[in-house]
Amino acid sequence: MPTAPGPEVRGFLSDQEGMALFDAACQAGALGPVLEIGSWCGRSTIWLAQGARAASTVVLALDHHRGSEEHQPGEMFHDPELVDAEGKVDTLQEFRRNIARAGVEDHVIPIVAGTEQVAAFLKPDLGMVFIDGGHSLAAALADWRTFGTRIVPGGILAIHDVFPDAGEGGQAPYTIWRLALASGLYEETGCTESLRTLKRLP
Ligand SMILES: C[S@@+](CC[C@H](N)C(=O)[O-])C[C@H]1O[C@@H](n2cnc3c(N)ncnc32)[C@H](O)[C@@H]1O
Repeated sequence: MPTAPGPEVRGFLSDQEGMALFDAACQAGALGPVLEIGSWCGRSTIWLAQGARAASTVVLALDHHRGSEEHQPGEMFHDPELVDAEGKVDTLQEFRRNIARAGVEDHVIPIVAGTEQVAAFLKPDLGMVFIDGGHSLAAALADWRTFGTRIVPGGILAIHDVFPDAGEGGQAPYTIWRLALASGLYEETGCTESLRTLKRLP
């Protein structure tokens, strides 16, 4: 059984959603590495890494660690404790500390970069992609278009913050979830709170 990260690990994921990520990584990690887009302080990474460990693979944890739109100073999810000496949002140190304390460093490869910056240089056949990066429509579309189709048959695409009701949350993750379904590449397999999972068809 995985160990849930404690409350000291800042993040935006419930334990139920984390457990669903763990299960997905255990299953899809057997087919290839797990790519996480959007790690923040490592909460979701810790769940994914425990699944990757069970499947003898790794999590490629992609994040520029400068925060999304909603984390910037003056925005709703800004955390003044996560700011560097120059006043910029910086979650890298906190991320590294949390991954080390959780004992999963051997199963996490941090990639400190933006999705589009790394897309041309990262071409493995992925077992799983978890999309929880920028939540603007442009950012979510870029994540889907760059990595949404690089999953092997039988692999899993997971998307966080999918809210069919606009009153509950932003619509960008919901939009790419619908695009994934409409693409004919995936079938829906799971829904845990705002986390949706889809399986890549043969
Ligand atoms: C909602 S947070 C991720 C939360 C995390 N999965 C958790 O469990 O707590 C979104 C993260 O995406 C990152 N991000 C936003 N746009 C990005 C981009 N274009 N490329 C890489 N990372 C990005 C931000 O730096 C931020 O850490």
